[in-house]
Order: sequence, then C-alpha cells, then structure tokens
Amino acid sequence: MKSCWSLRGLAVIFANACFGVLTAQAGETSMAGMDAGGGQMEAGPATIDVSRYPKAVRDIYPLFREKCSQCHRLNHTINSDHHALPDEWEGIVNRMWLKPGSKINHTEAKQIVEFLIYDSSVRRKSALDKMLTMVTPKVRKADEDKIKEVHAKYDQQ
Ligand code: HEC
Repeated sequence: MKSCWSLRGLAVIFANACFGVLTAQAGETSMAGMDAGGGQMEAGPATIDVSRYPKAVRDIYPLFREKCSQCHRLNHTINSDHHALPDEWEGIVNRMWLKPGSKINHTEAKQIVEFLIYDSSVRRKSALDKMLTMVTPKVRKADEDKIKEVHAKYDQQ
C-alpha cells in the first residue's frame, strides 16, 4: 500500500484509485466491477420517467434515488435485464439495506421494494411477463399476488 501513501495530497482521482484497490481487497470485487463501468452494468439511462405514475409512487422515487445510489450507480438497477420479479426485488433490497452503512431503515426498504415492483410491472411489463412464465407456478402465484397488492395500494392514491 506504500504507493497509495505516496500519492496522498495529489489529485482526487489518484486517491480514488487507491480507495478502489482497498475496496477490492476488502472483498467487494463485484462492486469494483460495477464501478469500472464494464459494459452492460452501466448501460442505459440513470433515471426513470415517473411522471405517469400515481403520486404515492412518485413520492418514493427520490428516496430510491438517494438511498440506492450511495454505493453504486442506479443504471444497473434501473436497466437490469434479469431482475423484475417482486421476490427478486425483495431479496435484493433486503440484501442492500442490511449492508453496513446503508443508511436505509426497514420502512424505507419496504417502500423502495414497492416502488421497484410497481415500476417493473409498468415500465418493464413485457420482461416481467416473460419471467413469470419461467418460474414455478407457486412462485408465479406469489409474485402475481404481490403485484396486485402493490397496485391496489398505490393506484388509487
Ligand atoms: C451500503 C452500500 C450499498 C447500498 C446503500 C446499496 N447497494 Fe446495491 N450493491 C452494493 C454492493 C456492494 C453490491 C455488489 C455485491 C452484492 O450484490 O451484494 C450491490 C449490488 C447491487 C445489485 C446487483 C445485484 C445482482 O444480483 O445483480 C443491485 C440490483 C443493487 N445493488 C441494487 C440496490 C438497490 C435497489 C439499493 C437501494 C435499496 C442498493 N442497491 C443500495 C452496495 C450497496
């Protein structure tokens, strides 16, 4: 790590490079990959057009943006090819809010899960429908019920 110290006080970019090494050494190699901007991970827009969503869904959007961009960019989450099912969002958000220093509480995690479920069911409906055909009937039923529940909660608000 000697080289890191010799860079102290130089341009921020070098400091970041050192930090990147430290992070990777701490076992966060997949993060380093995400940060490196490798291809698909960073492809696509970093924002969602929520203008047509119900107000209660729009109200969660800033929370999602703030909390979920603390450690990595939002592009991957927003443009994911392989996450759209409610139980996947639940699993991912639970994993994220339990990470040390996430600054996300349980209530916020729940709201973000509902936001992502709503968003996938509208903006990524065809991908979601396709994924629903690939899971077991039991999982499909649970996912469909969850989508209905989220819509029932937010559509009238
Ligand atoms: C404390 C830092 C931190 C915060 C806050 C955070 N993430 Fe992550 N995220 C990570 C790390 C580290 C990884 C890579 C390791 C992993 O997948 O657990 C990751 C990976 C991901 C992935 C890729 C997982 C996969 O299996 O493809 C998604 C999607 C994601 N995060 C979404 C989110 C969302 C949504 C939020 C907001 C609820 C969030 N992240 C907040 C640190 C964070």
